[in-house]
Amino acid sequence: GAAKPVIVAIDGPAGTGKSSTSKAVAAQLGLSYLDTGAQYRAITWWMVNNGIDIDDPSAIAAVAGKPEIVSGTDPAGPTITVDGIDVAGPIRTQEVSSKVSAVSAVPEVRTRITELQRSLATSAQDGIVVEGRDIGTTVLPDADLKVFLTASPEARAARRSGELKGADVHATREALIKRDAADSSRKTSPLAKADDAVEVDTTDLTLQQVIECVVTLVEEKRAGK
Ligand code: DC
Repeated sequence: GAAKPVIVAIDGPAGTGKSSTSKAVAAQLGLSYLDTGAQYRAITWWMVNNGIDIDDPSAIAAVAGKPEIVSGTDPAGPTITVDGIDVAGPIRTQEVSSKVSAVSAVPEVRTRITELQRSLATSAQDGIVVEGRDIGTTVLPDADLKVFLTASPEARAARRSGELKGADVHATREALIKRDAADSSRKTSPLAKADDAVEVDTTDLTLQQVIECVVTLVEEKRAGK
């Protein structure tokens, strides 16, 4: 369209409805969509698949530039490939989930993935919704709108175990809390709310309400409010 491309950053911990919200907002507003967690999962999948020792940050750093990661940014059907292989399924396994925090804490990995994210964001014709942990703080500090989604640990665990069919809520809760702690405490661009982000607590909201809330925020920004 004729409107200036709009860049929306959506950050927050796991289980806050970030992906569902970001995808729906992008679709409603005709914007591209980027799941940055999927990129960190994809590079983690590659490390595991190539026998890289996940407990050795220097081993990870040495090969961080090797895998070619390509993200398809259509919100109706986002895709992710590594060296041409479709990894949309394999990146959601427990094994990848349990190793992604260690891999994504390595600065060389973050530099590499951040470059990919910035180039996708600046080339999106009508704008983009980018979701992750450090988008508003580090990747796109000049985003037009920054949203930080939160929810109680109970609500987040319940949502995640609903997604992973039949998963135990208590085990899911422990795994989530562990991953959030690792993501929030790492040295290089940890999970954090940007000072100018709008915080939305989704604990008592339906997905539809969260989507409406974010769409309204984007429309207000576009109208120059
Ligand atoms: O959104 P997700 O749960 O699929 O993200 C998987 C992991 O990737 C998350 O535990 C931390 C990492 N991540 C990150 O470090 N920075 C981002 N911008 C997005 C995800």
